[in-house]
Amino acid sequence: MVKDEKKLLAEFQAKIDKGVKIEPKDWMPEHYRKQLIRMMSQHAHSEIVGMLPEGNWITRAPSLRRKAILLAKVQDEAGHGMYLYSAAETLGIDRTEMLEQLHTGKAKYSSIFNYPTLTWADIGAIGWLVDGAAIMNQTALAKGSYGPYSRAMVRICKEESFHNRQGYEIMCSLAFGTPEQKAMAQDALNRWWWPAIMMLGPSDDNSPNSAELMSWKVKMESNDSIRQRFIDRTVPQGDHIGLTFPDPLLKFNKETGHYEHGPINWEEFFNVVKGNGPCNKARLKARVDADKDGKWVREAAEAYAMKHTEKETLAA
Ligand code: 3HC
Repeated sequence: MVKDEKKLLAEFQAKIDKGVKIEPKDWMPEHYRKQLIRMMSQHAHSEIVGMLPEGNWITRAPSLRRKAILLAKVQDEAGHGMYLYSAAETLGIDRTEMLEQLHTGKAKYSSIFNYPTLTWADIGAIGWLVDGAAIMNQTALAKGSYGPYSRAMVRICKEESFHNRQGYEIMCSLAFGTPEQKAMAQDALNRWWWPAIMMLGPSDDNSPNSAELMSWKVKMESNDSIRQRFIDRTVPQGDHIGLTFPDPLLKFNKETGHYEHGPINWEEFFNVVKGNGPCNKARLKARVDADKDGKWVREAAEAYAMKHTEKETLAA
């Protein structure tokens, strides 16, 4: 490593250690940039793919109010994807390239969105559990070292808390509803609890990116620590509405102040991440088809922009 690179690296780490935000035009190690592009683009992909399982219920929402709330949530997720793609583009990668990585399976998106939404209660479980887990993770990311990413998180977290509350409200209304509604809520918890725990990433002893990301304060907390905070916050909420968690080993440890839980099925997790989940193929096909079907819109917008820029240049 040349001398001045060593000096640049030392200055960079000193900024990180002091909590100074790194901005797009600042010097940064190439691997810091690459790690951020990986994380931010996969986060953006997750937001866009995450619209599919919930979008599936917009036309079947049980009331106009629920439909309006779900519409707003799905639109928010699209916005989260846009902020995150734009924030990732500040690192020099082009959106087309990021989307091509998604469509060819080179890039990942969150495992959680590869499960089907079978009943209306799933919409409640997603808001309560998936957005609940996301908030735990994203409020930590909002303190991260890369300026554009941490600032995108601030607005995303505000909208996630609305997503989380509306989801829990759906679960409350079902759990205190008819026996059939309570059974539907219980079935959704049974199917979404473990995938929501897994979505926060592999255990710390099997998380190759964490150490580096935490030394650069891109990740402020380890996967297991965020997972534990999510479990500790969520279990009392489920108890409050009389639902049973699908984990016979789940129990509160008075000494540690945390919930202990049963073993996580990491084989299932890595199988889903590898593309063998219940909905992986359908999700990817939906994204590839949307990209193809939307090509004419992008071309028309580019042509319009081109024409107007030409006109403005001539007029100037
Ligand atoms: N789904 C798919 N892949 C996952 C995963 C998951 N739930 N968790 C981890 N992985 C992948 C990682 O991407 C990595 O693979 P890669 O190196 O090829 O990218 C590998 O498994 C090892 O995992 P690590 O723990 O080493 O990876 P990270 O340190 O990056 O931690 C993470 C994983 C916690 C997901 C982290 O990347 C992160 O915090 N990302 C930003 C937040 C995010 O992407 N959330 C996704 C959900 S989006 C969402 O919740 C939308 C909301 O509206 C509901």
